[in-house]
Amino acid sequence: MSAVSLLRDISDVGRDHWRGGYSRHVFDPAETQLREWFAEQAGRRGLDVEADRNGNLWAWWGTPGPGAVVTGSHLDSVPGGGAFDGPLGVASALDAVKRLQDNGFRPRCPVAVVVFMEEEGGRFGVPCLGSRLLTGSLDVDTARALRDPDGVTLAEAARRAGVDPERFGRDEVALSRVGRFIELHVEQGRGLIDLSSPVAVGSTVIEHGRWRFTFTGQGNHAGATLLADRRDPMVPAASLIGAARRFAAETEGARATVGRLVPRPGGTNVIASTVDAWLDARVPGADNTRPMVERIIEVARLAAAVEGCELTVTEESHAGAVTFDPGLRERLGAVLGPVPELATGAGHDAAILAEHGVPSGMLYVRNPTGVSHAPEEFAEDADVERGAEALAEVLRDLST
Ligand code: GLV
Ligand code: MN
Ligand code: MN
Ligand code: MN
Repeated sequence: MSAVSLLRDISDVGRDHWRGGYSRHVFDPAETQLREWFAEQAGRRGLDVEADRNGNLWAWWGTPGPGAVVTGSHLDSVPGGGAFDGPLGVASALDAVKRLQDNGFRPRCPVAVVVFMEEEGGRFGVPCLGSRLLTGSLDVDTARALRDPDGVTLAEAARRAGVDPERFGRDEVALSRVGRFIELHVEQGRGLIDLSSPVAVGSTVIEHGRWRFTFTGQGNHAGATLLADRRDPMVPAASLIGAARRFAAETEGARATVGRLVPRPGGTNVIASTVDAWLDARVPGADNTRPMVERIIEVARLAAAVEGCELTVTEESHAGAVTFDPGLRERLGAVLGPVPELATGAGHDAAILAEHGVPSGMLYVRNPTGVSHAPEEFAEDADVERGAEALAEVLRDLST
């Protein structure tokens, strides 16, 4: 099956009829079905599938060992996400391996296709959980205690899915095998639309992080409570949203988003007692994100004080700016001919691996809508084909 057919094969899994698009969250029925589907598809190509200590899946072409050329991505999505973010990289990897096998190619080193666990942080809040645990960049106790919106911990969800959370942590064996990692991904902005190229090579990933703001006030009656008597946490939450936009607009190339807001108890005629708001902030350059967030926090604190509310702020995740391996980028460029290089504002497992010394690179496939993390995310069949072909050329080059 080609990458296009593989994506069609899973097009019914995890559809979200309420939000539109797909909601596939780690260890939920849809993502579990996709993991099983992956294992089956890998088996059909003669690959041996194993799980590492952190619930990432590895499908091996050849005996697992050091110096492997690894490719892959993730199968989870954001809430109401598109069909391509993640699955395109996995489907293209399976397709690329098949193309090489069909041409009688014999790799001189092990080749593996990996599926990383919880890349989006859509269920437990921390993105790139699988690669962070693999590289040891996330404290294991913190990881085990992460909770989903229903209060289920990552440890409980993993155990139910047959993954032992006691084994979580830096996995020297799995990590030492990865000689180089290439992730193919749908382009997530307008980067390739005007460049008349279906593919690009990744150059950099912007620094980014997530912060949780909890505003606490006094739940009360929307009609009976005079304005002067209110401690309404929605009011400072609104200031947070405004400050995020304002400071990002003042900071060259910065992005700041409040994409999730949970007022409790959540009634139209009820002044909320608490509001949780999550800020996603990303600023170009080195170590510029936290300073911008500090300024946003200051505004939120002041607004909370004026309203008589409490505020606690927690940094839930952070990833530094990454420049992909120059030698690998040059090699991808040499193999693929004149293709553009593209910086991205999106985070990826490839960037986590790169941050931890694994020579890593990325290929992007054109997205004609320029929309991602939404149902409108798209890639033309012909571009998907070109992406898989390009990935096969790269795998061939790196494993010859
Ligand atoms: C992950 O896709 C992110 O960059 O938010
Ligand atoms: Mn994504
Ligand atoms: Mn992705
Ligand atoms: Mn991502």
